[in-house]
Amino acid sequence: MARGLFITFEGGEGAGKSTQIKRLAEKLRAKRYRLTVTREPGGSAGAEAIRHVILSGAAEIFGPRMETLLFAAARSDHVEQVIRPAIERGEIVLCDRFVDSWRVYQGGGEVDQAFMTTLERISLNGMMPDLTLIFDIDPAEGLKRATERRGEGTADRFEKETLAIHQARRDSYLEIARNEPQRCVVIDAAGDADMVEHAVTEAVFLAIEAHANERGGARA
Ligand code: TYD
Repeated sequence: MARGLFITFEGGEGAGKSTQIKRLAEKLRAKRYRLTVTREPGGSAGAEAIRHVILSGAAEIFGPRMETLLFAAARSDHVEQVIRPAIERGEIVLCDRFVDSWRVYQGGGEVDQAFMTTLERISLNGMMPDLTLIFDIDPAEGLKRATERRGEGTADRFEKETLAIHQARRDSYLEIARNEPQRCVVIDAAGDADMVEHAVTEAVFLAIEAHANERGGARA
């Protein structure tokens, strides 16, 4: 059976990834593509258990290496339990955040690069995305949107960080896109949802077409 296609959605807080994943999933299902829609941290039973520990901030007191290890453990479980089996079944996998979040959020902190690189290799175990859409937005605007969406609830472990940190993360995402242009497409997420949807659809269908030409399609 032809290998499926692994697509990840990345970007800072409030960039509108979730809305766009929903819209894209509807569009792909209508065209009868077989899909798995998932997210990180989480996406498998083991990883969802770890998600709570990380996002509540409960792991923060144990230091950045511990938090980084927990993300890696969650990713490894998610890759082996959910993503790899779906790709082997020939499905399209849409994942809300993945390894680039890790590179940007944990890699931008105090953890040394060799530690990051080793854990990345172990946790991915070869499962690199075929296409990554990087939703790019001014962090001030993104945080405003994230706050509006959250309403009365409290900011999570990462949302509460300073604007300067969010700005550095934006730069770091753009650097990844420059370094890996075959995999990454930067989506201007500042526009309205329909404009963003148009850009997402174009990038995804180009990738599906290229993939079908290489290996045969993922249609039901
Ligand atoms: P969540 O509310 O799921 O995401 P979003 O901001 O996309 O709505 O929160 C996930 C948070 O975890 C987000 O702030 C990014 C962060 N994160 C990391 O720091 N490292 C990682 O490897 C992943 C996957 C996420």
